[in-house]
Amino acid sequence: MAKPPLVFVLNGPNLNMLGRRQPKVYGRATLADIEKLCRERAAGLGLAVDFRQTNLEGELVGWVQEARKAAAGIVINAGAYTHTSVAILDALLMAEKPVIEVHLSNVFRRESFRHHSYVSPAAAGVIVGCGPLGYALALEALAGQLRGARKKAR
Ligand code: DQA
Repeated sequence: MAKPPLVFVLNGPNLNMLGRRQPKVYGRATLADIEKLCRERAAGLGLAVDFRQTNLEGELVGWVQEARKAAAGIVINAGAYTHTSVAILDALLMAEKPVIEVHLSNVFRRESFRHHSYVSPAAAGVIVGCGPLGYALALEALAGQLRGARKKAR
């Protein structure tokens, strides 16, 4: 049987603190809970998941570069780097893979500096404000993108 397509689920700074971090904004689920949710949803969609978190911008850039060869697609919550990082945008554009951007909180209800995303120009879709469910929705969206790409290739 063919190997399931591998999806990188990449998480940026401070997301390791979920559960304790501003629970009114981000809820009580931990990153480990979100990883479990992703693994379960991915299995149902016939995808494999490589789930990672870092507090370092350069590490995130390196992982996106790695995804270029190693992954079929990327789900990314770049945390605060979403609003600051041209380097992450450049890496995502170079990856030439379907990208779904996720934010747990509704960034458009929050401070205006969170309304701009450097990730969005590289993203096929953006999911905001749905909490951990957003990750499951992102995997569904990515599975759809990958199915579409396979159909086109036939
Ligand atoms: C976030 C929103 C960002 O503005 C913030 O810096 C984060 C988390 C979210 O998931 O809602 O770290 O990406």
